[in-house]
Amino acid sequence: MTHNAQKTCWNCPAAKLKGNVDFRGCGQSGRIVPKGESKQIMIECKRRPGLGHFEPTIEFQNCPEWRETEYGYLLEDMRVMILGIDGYLGWTLALKLGNLGCQVSGIDNFTRRELVDEKGSQSVVPIRPIDERLEAAKEVLDIDINFREMDLRDEDKLRDFIQEVEPESIVHYAEISSAPYSMGGMKNAVEVQDNNVLGTLKLLHIMKDEVPTTSLVKLGTMGEMGSPLTGRPLFEGLFPSDAKIEWEDKEWSLGGEMTPRDPASFYHCSKVHDTYNIYESCKYWWMRSMDVMQGIIYGVHTEELAQDKRLRTRLDVDEAFGTLINRFVSQAVSDIPLTVYGEGEQIRGMIPLRDAMECMVRLIGSPSEPGQYDVVNQISGVHKVKEVAETVADVAQNEFDLDTSIQRIENPRVEPEQHPFYAIARKLPKEFGFESNISMHEEVEKMFEVLTQERVKERIRENREVILPETRWDSQDGELGVIEEYEPGEKEMGRYKGKIDRGKED
Ligand SMILES: NC(=O)c1ccc[n+]([C@@H]2O[C@H](COP(=O)([O-])OP(=O)(O)OC[C@H]3O[C@@H](n4cnc5c(N)ncnc54)[C@H](O)[C@@H]3O)[C@@H](O)[C@H]2O)c1
Repeated sequence: MTHNAQKTCWNCPAAKLKGNVDFRGCGQSGRIVPKGESKQIMIECKRRPGLGHFEPTIEFQNCPEWRETEYGYLLEDMRVMILGIDGYLGWTLALKLGNLGCQVSGIDNFTRRELVDEKGSQSVVPIRPIDERLEAAKEVLDIDINFREMDLRDEDKLRDFIQEVEPESIVHYAEISSAPYSMGGMKNAVEVQDNNVLGTLKLLHIMKDEVPTTSLVKLGTMGEMGSPLTGRPLFEGLFPSDAKIEWEDKEWSLGGEMTPRDPASFYHCSKVHDTYNIYESCKYWWMRSMDVMQGIIYGVHTEELAQDKRLRTRLDVDEAFGTLINRFVSQAVSDIPLTVYGEGEQIRGMIPLRDAMECMVRLIGSPSEPGQYDVVNQISGVHKVKEVAETVADVAQNEFDLDTSIQRIENPRVEPEQHPFYAIARKLPKEFGFESNISMHEEVEKMFEVLTQERVKERIRENREVILPETRWDSQDGELGVIEEYEPGEKEMGRYKGKIDRGKED
């Protein structure tokens, strides 16, 4: 059965709780104490007001407002607002949701375009200005996207837009998404935290006032949790119910508590601050939220993006905004050795773009319950940086006839270079029906197909200078030295192996 078929009005953002419902205890307890005569919780359906007040028991599969899609049930014409819609993920998701029949709206202030430009770089996959993107979405996919240029922190504009659209789901991507950028001195660190933390805090207040039943899907990062040297599992944001702590001969339950955070940069710190602000909002105001601990995303391909060159999403290669695999492929294409930091034995959770988008649709279609702060680890595999370089080099060599070497350079970051990594990623497969069928090899091949096109190759070459890292976490000046260069296949893969736990098979 489809994973969300039996969810009820309780999870539906169109259901408005009625009566003096009081909520005591933390956002995880789900304990509800209704006041007044009735002990039952009643709702009113905003989409079907004629039904009056009733118990929130109608299942998605039996409600005419919910429609079955290949990703589970989705609200018919669901109104989804994407904050940061012009970005790498925002644009990709807008097209996917539009194609699925959602009414998509979104905001962006183009900060990503400006910051990349300031770095002297550009998206190596050419992207169009937003007006042309919107026109192409209409022409090619027949999608109308309601776009408004604004800064998320402009509370009056944001409030007006939210009042106008009344979104049933808000996807929040609108943050400055670069760890190296946030480590580039006081101005950058303040800018990142101001943009991210205050933007989210304002959004939460406006949602509470204007659309308290709307579900929030917010992008955090796996980097919030660090990589504990003890090898402790990286749970999905909260400890499972049977987790315990033992101390001085006594034992306590940790179930439902937030797991420890160990962020890796001032950018990651901004995500941790967001996490607590969202958690508190669910607790205080009955808001519903899904915090997505996102692994590193790679790729440029989805069904919608591939339909027309004007629809493509961005891909950056500069040290601040280019992510790991995207940069490796660009290096291979432009005959630059793949740069691995330090030992290259850092292990991370990763996921191809197509899978990440599918997960997002599934999460949007299964909103949390009122008052519930939920978390997923959104990854489809865990990989060692050195191994990723080998995969990229292998595809470069064998499928595209490109000779590639690997270069170890001094690590600009302050981080353990060898560590265990044990990620729990059970909820997406178990509760949201997600199953990844895409191998890294396959997705990297698709990237090479786009990145070896003459126009893109030329742009990568134009950006050669900005690929190598400069920003050092310790604030020291000076170029990062090369430790060694080696050929793919020459290295041992080291002591630790990453582990991912997708849950026991039923
Ligand atoms: N891409 C990844 O691998 C990855 C991994 C982990 C987490 N994330 C998170 O996912 C989200 C989206 O990532 P992305 O890769 O698409 O980044 P992106 O920079 O391409 O997208 C973010 C968009 O938000 C916009 N924006 C930023 N601040 C804004 C503001 N104050 N007001 C309005 N618009 C604003 C930017 O202009 C940009 O278009 C970010 O929060 C990021 O931290 C991404």
